[in-house]
Amino acid sequence: MTKKRVAIIGAGPSGLAQLRAFQSARRAGEEIPEIVCFEKQRNWGGLWNYTWRTGLDQNGEPVHSSMYRYLWSNGPKEGLEFADYSFDEHFGDKIASYPPRAVLFDYIEGRMNKADVRDWIRFNTPVRFVRYNEKDETFTVTAHNHDKDSTYEEVFDYVICASGHFSTPNIPYYDGFEEFNGRILHAHDFRDAREFEGKDLLLLGSSYSAEDIGSQCWKYGAKSITTSYRSAPMGFDWPDNWEEVPGLVRVDETTAYFEDGTSRDVDAIILCTGYKHFFNFLPDDLRLKTANRLATADLYKGVVFTKNPKLFYLGMQDQWFTFNMFDAQAWWVRDAIMGKIKIPSDISVLKADVTERIAREDAADGAKAAIQYQGDYVQELISETDYPSFDVQGACEAFFAWIDHKEDDVMDFRNKSYRSVITGTMAAEHHTPWEDALDDSLEVYLQSEADA
Ligand SMILES: Cc1cc2nc3c(=O)[nH]c(=O)nc-3n(C[C@H](O)[C@H](O)[C@H](O)COP(=O)(O)OP(=O)(O)OC[C@H]3O[C@@H](n4cnc5c(N)ncnc54)[C@H](O)[C@@H]3O)c2cc1C
Ligand SMILES: NC(=O)c1ccc[n+]([C@@H]2O[C@H](COP(=O)([O-])OP(=O)(O)OC[C@H]3O[C@@H](n4cnc5c(N)ncnc54)[C@H](OP(=O)(O)O)[C@@H]3O)[C@@H](O)[C@H]2O)c1
Repeated sequence: MTKKRVAIIGAGPSGLAQLRAFQSARRAGEEIPEIVCFEKQRNWGGLWNYTWRTGLDQNGEPVHSSMYRYLWSNGPKEGLEFADYSFDEHFGDKIASYPPRAVLFDYIEGRMNKADVRDWIRFNTPVRFVRYNEKDETFTVTAHNHDKDSTYEEVFDYVICASGHFSTPNIPYYDGFEEFNGRILHAHDFRDAREFEGKDLLLLGSSYSAEDIGSQCWKYGAKSITTSYRSAPMGFDWPDNWEEVPGLVRVDETTAYFEDGTSRDVDAIILCTGYKHFFNFLPDDLRLKTANRLATADLYKGVVFTKNPKLFYLGMQDQWFTFNMFDAQAWWVRDAIMGKIKIPSDISVLKADVTERIAREDAADGAKAAIQYQGDYVQELISETDYPSFDVQGACEAFFAWIDHKEDDVMDFRNKSYRSVITGTMAAEHHTPWEDALDDSLEVYLQSEADA
């Protein structure tokens, strides 16, 4: 019998989790399918693979990463730690709870180097299209090898889409944008807060990008920050030169006008208005269409596409839990593909699962209930596989404390420490408070208190 073939689209944290899941089964002596992972970037890590580029990359492909310089983890690392590869194991010493991007990239990479599966990935190779062949129940994947500038097709039995959903910006239009004299950019194209030193900034949105990009710009010397909310303010106790105002109505050459009748002169506008689930390489019958929420549309168990259960999606939820949730999903999908978990053949059962998850999310009120909801989801999946069990509730508790710390002081929460639910290690206190730590390189971050 020929081996089944599995295509994974994307080598970000979700796709890498899938590679690690299959590799761990192989290491345990199981026969695994043939795995091919297509990655459009030159390296792995997904959003964590920082690039200075914006717009198009060196191949003319849309730049994937939305991350920027000086980005630190926005939640405690104890909420995302891999159960099979602890921070202690990777760094050999305890580190603080909110690592910068480069430190988390290093951690992601360390686990994958140990798994030794880099040669399962075809880098610099975007997937252009996927077609389902009803006749023999296979998929034809069309990919473009940029090294050879050559397009080719291959056939697979299963496809796992792990292409992320925080890369294609949602860009609204407001009256007067074409007349505004300053820069208007989306968060996806924001790279360096120093560009806005001494400037009056308007940020649209009231979620993580608005909070974090505003905080960055404040930290690196913006003159003032105005955040404009459409539905509800973030409501933190902001520094003196930061104000939250209601929705934007229009702008002219120099000024922004808001729904409460107030206005502000601003130098630049950053649209922190979220992202779209965007899969231009998938036809209508395979394309996921969902809002950015915890219970996605059309995914049984949050991973199996109900309209074609040989197609899986990873990481398509809005995210409190990240790396460990991608692991939970990847181990589950591996077992479904390897026949250890049975996906019901009755589509009404798949749909009922989706309906039940959506109703349960709708009933969860507030951030802590949402965290608990996603924690329960992670627990549900890992209890059905051999992913190393860990104290998921402990990770929820870390997130609950994080919410409270932000309420107490949104410019101080990254100075707090948490206990690992994997090793029990209490995180180190960072040598420099976040507000004063202007160099976020791995080398400086990992310096000991004495060296700093
Ligand atoms: C600005 C920002 C900051 C964030 N900060 C944090 C944080 O502090 N902590 C945290 O836990 N999470 C954070 N996140 C959440 C983030 O979504 C996850 O950490 C994680 O990166 C998601 O992994 P993923 O693999 O699902 O998607 P991605 O990281 O987006 O990776 C998807 C991969 O698929 C590839 N790809 C896409 N299309 C194709 C194609 N057609 N063919 C081949 N390859 C393709 C991409 O090149 C990419 O490598 C942040 C997100 C954003 C936008
Ligand atoms: N490490 C970090 O510090 C960091 C930094 C940035 C982002 N992230 C991650 O990136 C992900 C995405 O976060 P995000 O904040 O970019 O997106 P998001 O959570 O989807 O929030 C989008 C925001 O844009 C607003 N919005 C949408 N359309 C608008 C419009 N037409 N006009 C005005 N406002 C509009 C929304 O308002 P409504 O509430 O009205 O819908 C919402 O406040 C999250 O997972 C987050 O954790 C992490």
